[in-house]
Amino acid sequence: MPGVFNLSVDHAVAAAKEAYGLGVKSLILFGLPDTKDAAGTSAWDPNGPVCTALKAIKDAQPELVLAADVCLCEYTDHGHCGPLERDARGHVTVANDQTLPLLARAAIAYAQAGADLIAPSDMMDGRIGAIRRALDERHLDDIAILAYAVKFASGFYGPFREAAQSAPKEGDRKSYQMDPANLREARREARLDLEEGADMIMVKPAMAYLDVIREVKAMSDRPVACYNVSGEYAMLKAAAQNGWIDEQRVGLEILLGMKRAGADVILTYSALDAARWLA
Ligand code: PBG
Ligand code: ZN
Repeated sequence: MPGVFNLSVDHAVAAAKEAYGLGVKSLILFGLPDTKDAAGTSAWDPNGPVCTALKAIKDAQPELVLAADVCLCEYTDHGHCGPLERDARGHVTVANDQTLPLLARAAIAYAQAGADLIAPSDMMDGRIGAIRRALDERHLDDIAILAYAVKFASGFYGPFREAAQSAPKEGDRKSYQMDPANLREARREARLDLEEGADMIMVKPAMAYLDVIREVKAMSDRPVACYNVSGEYAMLKAAAQNGWIDEQRVGLEILLGMKRAGADVILTYSALDAARWLA
């Protein structure tokens, strides 16, 4: 996508400094490993791209708040967010409970490498509690959890999956991501993550789910984030490149709508553009 790149660690440090200089106070890191396997083991490699970049960015720009996305789909060779198993009827499914300790391992590795925020995006049941306990046991109790609490099975993730080569090779994510039509399930997922100890909860995607942001905001006094995902950014850029809309005006209007809906934090590929526009 225009303006979005997979960066090596040295370029990530330069990008982080540039972002901080423009007034962006927080970044989230995703990793692209050299090798993928069935369990996604390179997710917790202390020499992998996320751990290395966390250390290097913390060193270069300590004021930046660093979040690390925690999921296995960038690291598994099958592209699902956890290891697979066969159920009693022979169907292949993601092994929810086997995934939890693996996510906890990745969270610990990122926290030890310098992440301030752990951001689990996998949608396995029970992961917030499992990660919270694993961090606390290792005296990482000051590390906060930004839970992707309400994450829908959405067509808007297309560009990200292409960039991360993380599209599922078979099947889809509908056994762990949510039905876009179901608002009551959104409330339940948010409540569970809050009960398990999430410090912030996130709604994803954002543009087609502003009502969900509002709903979740009313449930809790903890900060609510939303993720303005890759397909949303792609639509903005494509329309602007065709001369069909005023990019700055529409770009800021989109972010304002998220804020008005109740988002305290917005994750967006437009962050650098927005910081320049606002300056
Ligand atoms: C999965 C993950 C997704 C994104 C980031 N991590 C969704 C998915 O592939 O199901 C999408 C982000 C985007 O579209 O910007 N853990
Ligand atoms: Zn995933």
